[in-house]
Amino acid sequence: MTTQNYTSIAQDLHQKGHAYAPINNEIVTHAHESQKAFITLRQEKNDFKKWRLTRKGENEIDRGIQKFSGGRKDIKFVSHFDPCLKEDLKKQGDPLTKVDDDYFASAQILYDMLTTQVASVLIAYDKLYKTNMLSAYLHTIDYASLPYATTVLRGLGYPPVVNQSGAKGHIDRSLITTCLPGEGGSLLGALPEHPGEMVEISPKPGYMLLFWGVKVLWVTKGQVKPLWHSSETTPGEPRWTMAMFHHIFIDGYEVRDAKEAKRHYWDNVHEVFP
Ligand SMILES: [Fe+2]
Repeated sequence: MTTQNYTSIAQDLHQKGHAYAPINNEIVTHAHESQKAFITLRQEKNDFKKWRLTRKGENEIDRGIQKFSGGRKDIKFVSHFDPCLKEDLKKQGDPLTKVDDDYFASAQILYDMLTTQVASVLIAYDKLYKTNMLSAYLHTIDYASLPYATTVLRGLGYPPVVNQSGAKGHIDRSLITTCLPGEGGSLLGALPEHPGEMVEISPKPGYMLLFWGVKVLWVTKGQVKPLWHSSETTPGEPRWTMAMFHHIFIDGYEVRDAKEAKRHYWDNVHEVFP
């Protein structure tokens, strides 16, 4: 990838609210398979509780792995990886199996690859649009531990449940979300050039999708909007997918919920920085 490539990705992101960037498909595939094996092992051992960690001041679903229901029609297994997770779990004293180790190692490599890619896009974006996102972003990666602002890799496994339909329309509480190609299901977005429609935006193999979360309002002073999106899951079919939430820390405000944060921005912050 050249500087010119990152510049055109930054331009797409600015103009369309989303963009695609080429990624190393082998790294994604390996992380994907390791995550599947890890979650499947949790199901077999029924030991989800052992893998769930909470960090002080952090959203309770932000670390480790758990069964999660976003409503009766959005039933899934969620894993959240950040570089502190493995060490924290080791402190609990249980030895890790090869499957666990594979998951942590491949998730770490993917985490490093995606943070490097996003940092490169932010360097280009900052230069083009006179923002200052990179330095804020760098504080939220690696061994960062910030309330509601730690950059995490999310693995999702949707069991083949009859009622399953996917996530309803929403915005994310990240600065940027990156979505990787998965198995089954699709992603839909409300794109400015297609008003009133939800358009399929799933990334193709070898690419990741980038789009804005709510924190972009702060860094662009409301000039750029977060992307409204949803997902579809075919009832009765399994779906596996991975996404990463890239954060910045907002001084004086914890972004616990994207919808509330959006309201807070327009009601309280935008007046101060119009
Ligand atoms: Fe989302």
